[in-house]
Amino acid sequence: MRNKEVSRDIQYIKDTFAKEDNLLKKANDYSINQALPINIGAEEGKILQILASMINAKKIVEIGTLSAYSTIWLARSIEGKGKVYSFEKNPEYYKLAKEVILNSDVEDKIKIIQGEASQSLKEIEDKAPFDMVFIDADKIGYCKYLDWAERNIRKGGLIIGDNSLLFGAVYKDQLPEGVSKLAKEVMIDFNNRLSDNSKYKSILLPTKEGMTIAIKLF
Ligand code: DHB
Ligand code: MG
Repeated sequence: MRNKEVSRDIQYIKDTFAKEDNLLKKANDYSINQALPINIGAEEGKILQILASMINAKKIVEIGTLSAYSTIWLARSIEGKGKVYSFEKNPEYYKLAKEVILNSDVEDKIKIIQGEASQSLKEIEDKAPFDMVFIDADKIGYCKYLDWAERNIRKGGLIIGDNSLLFGAVYKDQLPEGVSKLAKEVMIDFNNRLSDNSKYKSILLPTKEGMTIAIKLF
């Protein structure tokens, strides 16, 4: 489930289009050595960055900071004023993420909020509507986060969910190791909701673990 082997195609793409600087390398190292080796790949970080740039996103929400790896890619999409509000439940990961971005080029563009996102998302609602949300947290929470996004992302904004193939669980009869029946049901619901063409222009990008991207049409 957490197999991090990279194909030669992806390695070429990373080396050519998604090079990591020292800050991204540090975030990746922190994730692997002090948290969990489950951050997105550099190629996915670059995809997020380009998507954010395409809609000129200034107010971005991220649910699941981990070591701030994806947060850094997102923050660097913002030209001029703007912020990534990133939510992290785990106090240890929160501390790591703060340490990673301290005194970096993106320190002023990232606000990390520690706590249960379903509660603490309320704290930023006065800044709504937001341009984009990237959901990469507890999988059973995805539909709850989507409910929030439907209320707080602007028309024309982006809703993105990582791991939306859920290691094949969304189409397999047997549950993959470490995936609960509830998580499978929630992810199927999440994808079904975002595949509604009357509400979204959307696709599940065939990245290694799948990433659903949807433009909100309402
Ligand atoms: C897991 C979570 C993730 O967000 C991810 O990208 C990969 C694995 C996990 O919980 O195993
Ligand atoms: Mg993920």
